[in-house]
Order: sequence, then structure tokens, then C-alpha cells
Amino acid sequence: MRLPRALVFLGAALACGSGAPEGIVVSFPGSALGAEAELLQSQLERFMALQPEIRVVQQRTPDAADQRHRLYVQWLNAWADDPDILQLDVIWTPEFAAAGWTLPLKRFEPDTSDFFPATVATNSWRGELHAVPWFVDVGLLYWRSDLLGRAPRSLDELLDAASRERRVRHGWVWQGARYEGLVTVFVELLGAFGAAILDDAGRVVVDSPQAVRALEVLRNALDAGVVPRDALSWQEEQTRFAFQNGHALFMRNWPYAYPLMQQPGESAVAGRFRVTALPAAPGGRPSAALGGSQLAINARSDEPDAAWQVIAFLTHPDQMRERAERLGQYPPRRSLYAGDSLAGALAIPPAEARQVIEHAVARPATPVYTELSGVLQIWLHRALSGQESPEDALAGAAREIRKLLKRSGLAAETRDGMAP
Ligand code: GLC
Repeated sequence: MRLPRALVFLGAALACGSGAPEGIVVSFPGSALGAEAELLQSQLERFMALQPEIRVVQQRTPDAADQRHRLYVQWLNAWADDPDILQLDVIWTPEFAAAGWTLPLKRFEPDTSDFFPATVATNSWRGELHAVPWFVDVGLLYWRSDLLGRAPRSLDELLDAASRERRVRHGWVWQGARYEGLVTVFVELLGAFGAAILDDAGRVVVDSPQAVRALEVLRNALDAGVVPRDALSWQEEQTRFAFQNGHALFMRNWPYAYPLMQQPGESAVAGRFRVTALPAAPGGRPSAALGGSQLAINARSDEPDAAWQVIAFLTHPDQMRERAERLGQYPPRRSLYAGDSLAGALAIPPAEARQVIEHAVARPATPVYTELSGVLQIWLHRALSGQESPEDALAGAAREIRKLLKRSGLAAETRDGMAP
């Protein structure tokens, strides 16, 4: 990063450590959900103590995935040479790689053999790795073990318990705001019904009868008051607060919420909840959406080698293990799930976590994912807020997504260049 820009960047940045005053500066806007910023800062300080010639500058970014995406696109569209390191959502890599914004990582000879294959696939573009998996997110169903004897074994059991619940305010809470989180909620319901957004051949099937059933479940739960109307503007944190304050029987959220809600001083439900995958409806299977973060290098970075060293350090098994222990975030390295190196760190036993990750449902891997998701967000939200029936909303979404894929040359008939 050249100095004048560095200074502008530093204005909004959380400078991290003292390090080399005139050495190499690497900028890194990382996410700060829950306790993420604190842990990242302490890991980067350790890195700078080992490599005093490199100074890493952190910058806070918005929590909401879509807002982070907009900010990144602004920077990269302007061909800015910073930030040097990019924290990518699992769904962004094809878009950023196809736009030429990320550096192919082959020159650093990354060893990917330990990573879950699905995480390597989602971070590759035209056969080349563009980002290193940092942590895996899987959508989990949190349930109050002090109020229920066991986890629901089917979606019907979940809905039944949630609608009969009178001891707490809400039966079920999830992210219903019009943003990326809503798509992950829907993707999980689709999985539970054996439905999908695109089929294996890349055809749009989001208007299938099972997909309509999946959306009806979400809409009916709102109409019946099982899910509060307020959830239509909730993201991850509002949902966590409702559950953490003891107001909900079930919650859908990512693993980061687990250690935060186990802190007795902070949480009314510490020791009184457990997690599982969303249970299946007839014809589907237990379902978890695949999410998570990856680290990539800005193709315009002036310091790609230093950026790579930071990435290699942060994705080393030691840092990943610490991230799991402190933040409850699941490592993408398979070797960490063997033996007892993660025992007690995750919300579920490591062997079970590994299974959930291996069966998690990915969102479509396409360079036009952001547009596709934007279309879906609008129609899903219209259906949930009662402006459209689920059937009409999904017909509308499918129509627009088909047009989008055709316009971009990515329709099923001309699939070249779709997934890597
Ligand atoms: C989490 C997931 C990410 C997802 C986002 C939606 O950050 O890791 O993949 O897109 O939540 O809100």
C-alpha cells in the first residue's frame, strides 16, 4: 500500500500494534461480529511480533454481508490498491475472481489437501484457487433444552412445539430482513424439503412445488405469530439477542452465537440450550446452509507477498484452533476434527460438526450471485410480509433469475463458465 492512501485508510482504521514504522504496511478490513475483532487483533499482534517488518492495519466493516459486499465492490471497482487482504464471503469468490479483482494464489503454492473439498471448490475459479478458507459457517437450529426434552426430529415436530409454546414470547426466530441472511434461512428450508434454487444442471427450480412449501412454512409461521413480525427486519445479532434474553424456544443462527450465549453474566440461557441441524420435512433431509469467510489478496495490492504471509499465518492450524476455542467458529481444516484437539470448543462434538459441514447446502456458485440473491431477497421478503403469495413470489423470482442467467450467458443451456 502506498503511503498517501495508507494515511486515508488509517483515518478510519483501528491501527494494530506498533511494529515497523517505515516497513511494509498491509491493510485488512476484517469482520467484527461478536468477539471477532478482539481475537483478530491479538492474532495479528502475534504475527507482527514474529514479522516485525510487516505492519497490519485493521479496519472495521459492517456486520451485514450485503453492506460489506457493497463496500468491497466500491474499492475494487475503482482498482484501489488497498485493502491488500480481502475477507470474502463464501458466495463472493466467483464474482471477484471473474472480475479480475483477486490474485490467483498458485504462485504461493498453497497446500489445500487438508481443507474440506467443498470449501476449496467454492474458492476456486477456472481451476485456480483465489482465496483460502478461513472459517466455515453452518446454519444451526438452537433449541431450549430446559423447555424441551429433546431436539425436534422433523420439521413438523419443530412447528408443533413452536406453535404450542406459551412459556416464552416467541416460538421460533430467524433472520427475516431483506438481506443475504434471509437467503440462507430460505436455503435451509429448501434443503429440508429436498428443493433447491438451481438444480445440479444449473436450471432454475426455485419455483418447484416443494420450494413453495418451504416458503409457506416461513410465511405461515409469521402469520400465526410463532415468529414475531419484527423478525422481518432482523439480522443475526437481533435474533441472537431475542434468544439470549430468553424470549425464544428455537433460533436459527451461525455457530458464532454459541460461546457468546454460554456466558452466564451476559446470557439468560447459558447452559440451557443446545444445537442441531434444521430437521427435515417429508422428502427432504436435515439441513444447514454453508457459509463462512475466506482470505484473498487484492489483485492490485502493492504487497502481495506480505499479504500472503499474513494469510498463511491466520489460516495455520494453531490460529484456527484458537478461533474455534474463542469464537466457536468451525475450522475448514479436516485434520483438526480428528482426535480431541477441538473437544469442547464447538457447539456439537467435532465428529458431528464435520458431518454437518460435509452435508451443508451451498448457495449457487456463479459470478452473478449478488444479482441472483438480490432478486430472491426482494421476492422472499414480499411473500413474508404478505404482499405476494409464496407461489406467485417464487414464480416471479424464478422468471427474473432465468432472465438474469440468460443475459449473462450463464443459463443452463450455455453453462460454460458457470461453476469452476
Ligand atoms: C454469515 C455467513 C455468510 C452469509 C452471511 C449471511 O456471515 O458466513 O456466508 O452470507 O452470514 O448473513
